[in-house]
Amino acid sequence: MEKELETLKEQLKQQEKLASLGLLSAGIAHEIQNPLNFVINFSKMSDKLLSDLTEIVEDNEAALPEADREEMDDIVADLRENMAKIVEHGERAISIIQGILLVSRGKENEFLPTDVCKLVKEYVWLSYHAMRANHKNFNISIHENYEEGIPQMMVIPQDLSRAILNIVNNACYAVWKKQQTEKEGYVPQIDITVKTDASDLLIVIADNGVGMSEEVKQRLYDNFFTTKPVGQGTGLGMGITRDIIENKHGGKLLFDSKEGEYTNFTIHIPIRLK
Ligand SMILES: Nc1ncnc2c1ncn2[C@@H]1O[C@H](COP(=O)(O)OP(=O)(O)O)[C@@H](O)[C@H]1O
Ligand SMILES: [Mg+2]
Repeated sequence: MEKELETLKEQLKQQEKLASLGLLSAGIAHEIQNPLNFVINFSKMSDKLLSDLTEIVEDNEAALPEADREEMDDIVADLRENMAKIVEHGERAISIIQGILLVSRGKENEFLPTDVCKLVKEYVWLSYHAMRANHKNFNISIHENYEEGIPQMMVIPQDLSRAILNIVNNACYAVWKKQQTEKEGYVPQIDITVKTDASDLLIVIADNGVGMSEEVKQRLYDNFFTTKPVGQGTGLGMGITRDIIENKHGGKLLFDSKEGEYTNFTIHIPIRLK
């Protein structure tokens, strides 16, 4: 009893740390947005300046030897490409940040029109990088498969993102765990699919990690059931995730798993357009 209480206290402390981390990252995201906007705008301005520069050179074509002109054209083309890359990646960073802000801004239980593929992508990315930061040698391949043209859907972004994060965190852990014991040649892999059928939005998260034993399958959704060491798991993730999908979104959370081989989770959410 006493030992259990001790573990529980440890787990609650961990939960609290996570909650304050959420607040902190929303604050940081907000702060980073400004300098990123500068990066993007200055890059766009520099591109404009390059155009002006090119014009000046064209006006004075005769003054430059042919070889120099060609070299200059090459350099200008390279600079253009670099500038476009800066804008592209800067905008990607902005969209990730806005995703975090949107999710941390949305109230609990609030349905908002949401680009689900974008949300899933961002949280898969967050989970992957958190895992990389915490586990040395964490190297996996993630295959993403997003159906094109899925319209904005009414979901609770704050909750759905938590559900995705929970499942992907578990998947990352499962492949990492298997990597610790498996011989060379094991390729840890997670497959993410977002698609629709006639009535539902489907999000599939499949990993080729350690899989689940019969006991784990039975107790998967029990609160405080975890096979991870203290500090690594709270045993609350799957219970919360099922609540989010089934009670809050009126959907269904299904899984299929084979011990030592794989685990697939499929989220079904009835489609609700705005
Ligand atoms: N993708 C998965 N592969 C293997 N086991 C899993 C997977 N997802 C969940 N589990 C098992 O279910 C348990 C409960 O998961 P969860 O409720 O998220 O708690 P936690 O991650 O804190 O342990 C995990 O400890 C693990 O044993
Ligand atoms: Mg978990």
